[in-house]
Amino acid sequence: MLSSSSSSSADQYQRFLIDQAYIGGQWRPAVSGSRFDVLNPATSEVIGQAAECSIEDAQAAVAAAKDAFPSWSTTTAKERAQLLQRLYKLQLDNAESLARLITAEMGKPLREARGEIGYGASFLEWFAEEARRINGSILQSPWKDKQLSYRKEACGVAGIITPWNFPNAMITRKLGAALAAGCTVVINPAEDTPYSALALAALAEEAHFPPGVINVVPTSRQKTPEIGNFICDTPDISVITFTGSTEVGKLLLKRGANTVKRIVMELGGDAPFIVFDSADVQRAVEGSIVAKFRNAGQTCVCANRIFVQEGIHDQFVAALAAKMSSELVIGNGMDEKTTVGPLINDRAVEKVKSHVEDALSKGAKLVQGGKKLTAKNNCYFYEPTLITGATKEMIIAKEETFGPVAAIFKFKTEEEVLRHANNCRRGLAGYFYSRDYAQIERVARKLEVGMIGINDGLLSTCEAPFGGVKESGLGREGSHFGVDEFLHVKYVCLGGLQF
Ligand code: SIN
Repeated sequence: MLSSSSSSSADQYQRFLIDQAYIGGQWRPAVSGSRFDVLNPATSEVIGQAAECSIEDAQAAVAAAKDAFPSWSTTTAKERAQLLQRLYKLQLDNAESLARLITAEMGKPLREARGEIGYGASFLEWFAEEARRINGSILQSPWKDKQLSYRKEACGVAGIITPWNFPNAMITRKLGAALAAGCTVVINPAEDTPYSALALAALAEEAHFPPGVINVVPTSRQKTPEIGNFICDTPDISVITFTGSTEVGKLLLKRGANTVKRIVMELGGDAPFIVFDSADVQRAVEGSIVAKFRNAGQTCVCANRIFVQEGIHDQFVAALAAKMSSELVIGNGMDEKTTVGPLINDRAVEKVKSHVEDALSKGAKLVQGGKKLTAKNNCYFYEPTLITGATKEMIIAKEETFGPVAAIFKFKTEEEVLRHANNCRRGLAGYFYSRDYAQIERVARKLEVGMIGINDGLLSTCEAPFGGVKESGLGREGSHFGVDEFLHVKYVCLGGLQF
């Protein structure tokens, strides 16, 4: 189904179309004076320009963050918490404009963009609360004359490199934790979505964060490696937190090794979504719509390989096809009826197209969808697609599609599906549907992933640890673990005590 587009509310986010970087508490053009175009992927129209920062701007941002660190890291946790609370409230006060900004620069449907603003705000609130629970401890000493303790201290300046698929929440999940710990930050947002990052800086300024605590250096695709390399190379950044592809994560990890940086990474997934014969089929269909089509399939935790046991296979496929036809409305995200927006750019569309073509050429059957929309004047829509008969020889079984394609793999036994699901170098999220308690416990133990949704297709929340195993990442975000990624543990041995 195709919905019509609407362009009425551009003015609500206009003030956040900022064409400058935010460094040391000041808005500045890039040193070179260059700017780059930011496109709306639903229309391919230019919505504005952003500062094209280069290494000189990144150096200034890191210097500002370094200067601000001694004072920020010695504020009380309560002071940091109050500022984070203020930012949280400002994000909610500006929720509608920020949501429209997300839809304008990355295309997701408004209802999802509104959800992202609430989700993003929850990390600011959560880490405001966590700031006041960063404690040390007195340890049992084996010596009468020595007291042993440890304390937790902010690591230093954090380099935050973020993706376009959640342009607000992937920043707040990192920013909230870093600020709560007492780190200052330099944010390099994805080139497709600089405005959501700059909007956060504008709100942080309004919240009265001290100059230099938060710095934002946007840049173009061409200049991104230059900034990324600088963030890795400079000894003035102590920790890098990155969400993005496994390929780029490995480059950052190698390059960051030269200065022995702490690196937190949330990388690609290839989530298995398993429906056993014992499942509640209707519930599994509803879960697969969320896990597969949220953000047009452009989430790292997206169901990428849908395994369905042979006993309920045909029933599941028929019910999923019916649900897709009745619920998925493709169109401009600004239209309230839209549930599936465009993909981020032409490369994303080409990737999805090649995965579907490869699967069909190797024997998969097209149930519905399967086409790039061409009528929409050079923009990036791909139909929600359902294919059956997927096999492990297909690219779709080996690579993250990052698009609205549900590929169904039929299986016979639990042992077979676990072997297939785990035969993968990535392990971010996994999902399965079963009403057999022994099976639930067995499969939860054996699935090689960092997060599992059992009888549920949506697991992300600020309270829970987000992260993967294998090549899906290092460390955890959100939850009480998230803040630890920005803290050093310092052991203190106090000798010469006399009692
Ligand atoms: C991601 O796709 O990287 C994040 C998704 C989420 O937080 O749910």
